Amino acid sequence: MKNSISTNLADKQLLRNKAYINGCWVEANNKSTISVTNPANGECIGCVPNMGKHEAAMAVDAAFLAFDEWRSLTAKNRSIILMSWYYLIINNLNDIAKIITFEQGKPLKEARDEVRYGASFIEWFAEQGKRIYGEVIPTFDQNKRILTIKQPIGVVAAITPWNFPIAMATRKLAPALACGCTIVLKPSEETPFTALALAELAQRAGIPNGVLNVITGASIEIGEEITSNKKVRKVTFTGSTEVGKSIMSQCSTSIKKISLELGGNAPFIIFDDADIDLAVAGAIASKFRNAGQTCICTNRFIVQDAIYDKFTRRLTHEVSTLKVGDGFTEGTDIGPLINEAAICKIEHLVADAANKGARIVIGGKRHKKGGTFYEPTVICDILPEMEIIHKEIFGPVATIMSFSTETDALNIANDTCYGLAAYFYSRDIGRVWRVAEGLEYGMVGINEGLISTEIAPFGGMKQSGIGREGSKDGINEYVETKYLCMGGIYT
Ligand code: SIN
Repeated sequence: MKNSISTNLADKQLLRNKAYINGCWVEANNKSTISVTNPANGECIGCVPNMGKHEAAMAVDAAFLAFDEWRSLTAKNRSIILMSWYYLIINNLNDIAKIITFEQGKPLKEARDEVRYGASFIEWFAEQGKRIYGEVIPTFDQNKRILTIKQPIGVVAAITPWNFPIAMATRKLAPALACGCTIVLKPSEETPFTALALAELAQRAGIPNGVLNVITGASIEIGEEITSNKKVRKVTFTGSTEVGKSIMSQCSTSIKKISLELGGNAPFIIFDDADIDLAVAGAIASKFRNAGQTCICTNRFIVQDAIYDKFTRRLTHEVSTLKVGDGFTEGTDIGPLINEAAICKIEHLVADAANKGARIVIGGKRHKKGGTFYEPTVICDILPEMEIIHKEIFGPVATIMSFSTETDALNIANDTCYGLAAYFYSRDIGRVWRVAEGLEYGMVGINEGLISTEIAPFGGMKQSGIGREGSKDGINEYVETKYLCMGGIYT
């Protein structure tokens, strides 16, 4: 695999280095750019415009002007356009996957899976857009009729992270566009090229000018504009709880609708009646997907006393087989971390745990490949005072602690301000219900470590966020319910 991103693409037009506003490819007003690096080798793979407040306002204006025409199309006509976008993405799957691996670092196989996952939101919501029903409510007065209609909110601003450059964008864009909203998307500075490729394909699919806009550049400046601009009616964000709080408070000045998909601290409980082989397979899938860089990655393995040693041994064996490397190298399981800050955070958390008595069973340091590669790690004998079980690790580090009773397990699992995903393994049907109901989490994997799909509601409780993405619920985040009261039926 040569280093240059464009020489590796079958369709070189997918590599766009300008932002996309009102159907045009544009530079920053002051022509400044930011460079994007390949986390596997630190090399610059290209530059995109470093836009700010002014360009963000231009994009919002374009979305605002395009809204009336787009919302006036029938749901079926919007659906046809979205389906053509979907097929274009699927037909260009390999190129988009390569762009993801270049800018994000994940193994090419995982990048391909992400393209399929990302596209599935477009297919799903192209269908769901045709099923946004109002209601006729039995009346309280014979002379009146009571009904509701659902209407698109208006201009939506979406801010998306680097860990899933396509899927985190499409699960916001697709429901918004399907119900008639227009959009300004601000992708992460780390991974803008995937979002720009999506815009290129959206243009080819016939999404009209102004309906979808992609701006790149300075997060704080752009964020301030889109959260304060009165033409923006809804902000949807995936990222850290810290940034989510500040977006929420910025949106409060104009009372915008918000959806937030924030941080997690996923527990993975293994009861002594569990199928250990299944639990270990689920543990690997849930912990090491995307090098541990997902909001729903397991942060804490909580294992019942009687099987603690056995589980630790088995997990460690599986972890020892994981191959670390460049995402383009065949057989790679774990790519690099996104940047130096990510690896420094992990080093700090691992050192804190070790200093407080945790035992590093395997890994525990930077990988000999250098850069931002980190060894797949298992640390056991974790105690409540260790920082590592209170912070989102976001890296390939598995922490293991023990528990005695079901009540202990639930207390430990719920002892966090987060409530995104949780997992547990048990074959006892009564316990399965008790624990599933007792976990304060928006999503629970039961004897399953991989739970993401476009057909189920994704989202969290507590400080893990507001709203749900995907499923039949996801589109409701982009519509307003309007109540109509019709009088004069008889008089
Ligand atoms: C995330 O990390 O926020 C999303 C992970 C997923 O959709 O599976």
